[in-house]
Amino acid sequence: MTPMEPQHSAAPAPDWERYRTEFPIFRSSIYFNSCSLGALSVRVEAAVARFLALWHEHGAAAWYGPWWETMEALRARCARVIGASPDEIALFPSITAALTAVASAFAYRDRPRVIMSRLDFPTTVYQWLAKQASGVQPVLLGRPEGLAVPPDEYAAAVDRRTELVVASHVYFTSGYLQDVAAIAEIAHARDALCLIDAYQATGQVPTDVHALGIDFLVTGSLKWLLGGPGFAFLYVKRDLHDRLHPNDVGWFAHREQFAFRTDVFEPAPDARGFQGGTPSVAALYAADAGLDIVLEIGGDRLRARQLDLVGDLVARLRQVGLPSRVPPDLTRHAGIVTVPVPDPPATVAALRRQGIIVDSRPGVVRLSPFFYNIVEDNRAVAAAVREVVITAATTS
Ligand SMILES: Cc1ncc(COP(=O)(O)O)c(C=O)c1O
Repeated sequence: MTPMEPQHSAAPAPDWERYRTEFPIFRSSIYFNSCSLGALSVRVEAAVARFLALWHEHGAAAWYGPWWETMEALRARCARVIGASPDEIALFPSITAALTAVASAFAYRDRPRVIMSRLDFPTTVYQWLAKQASGVQPVLLGRPEGLAVPPDEYAAAVDRRTELVVASHVYFTSGYLQDVAAIAEIAHARDALCLIDAYQATGQVPTDVHALGIDFLVTGSLKWLLGGPGFAFLYVKRDLHDRLHPNDVGWFAHREQFAFRTDVFEPAPDARGFQGGTPSVAALYAADAGLDIVLEIGGDRLRARQLDLVGDLVARLRQVGLPSRVPPDLTRHAGIVTVPVPDPPATVAALRRQGIIVDSRPGVVRLSPFFYNIVEDNRAVAAAVREVVITAATTS
């Protein structure tokens, strides 16, 4: 593939240039780090200002009206972006908090094994590594430097003593798009359940949790949903609502939250039965506005745009002599392109001085375009990385 103007975009193409102007950071920088933090839009900024104005105007009464309504509207939007129903969504401040609720729903007696991989995000793995004293037997698949863990490795590891199979939808290190439907099928064949960490997928990969057949999905607003830190959500398949009763919960999980009962805990009959305490309302407002942009553009068009930008970036990097770590079939890849360089932190710092914001992980720079980037950004980033690598080679 050679560098080119985007081709895949579904018709009618959104006005990408107009969307780019919603993100003021592009006035001063080339932002290329959405896999760490989605760029801030004026829409999200205005939503947070609205939250503050409502607090000024109504005090605590903001809770009983607009704040509560925003929380429920957000739940519905979260459901929509992954193809779920609102009753299958629980709201949390982080992925870790959502995982803690899920992990507390199992006894780990007859089925102590939890299958994970060395490529999953650390917080997801720690959740069960830290529970070994409580009888959990964690099993870690794959090599940290791999692109992905083939589903066959899960098939070989899952047995009748497995409670849960945990996998990433898109790997945070490699950007590879895992076949999570295959993993769900493997788990179910041995009566285990399957949990997908989709933090790096939701917003850039169209997702239909029912079609994928997964049991739990965790994701949040920080990255490809453009809503910043402080908000995450959990999908719990409806069939599980009666069967599973987490014990790490709070008053937002009670069936009659505002009855303020302390004699009995009766969980809500749906995914809300997994929730904890008071959410960060500012984060709810930001998340809601970020999701508004993602849903307005639509998952298919975002994915088509990503395929174009990633294909173009990989081709430009190759042209300047920088092979990236991607699979031959780029349709199995998402918007995280890693490039091995001799000194990743120094490369990130040198690019920063030129107004280009990227990120590093051990051994690689991590480049992550999103719809607001343009092929001119790809060209500038590829040229700048090459320059830094050549300069370092000639001065060392
Ligand atoms: C795949 C993935 N899972 C989880 C997290 C973080 O989880 P938490 O919200 O608990 O900080 C990240 C990155 O921030 C991530 O990339």
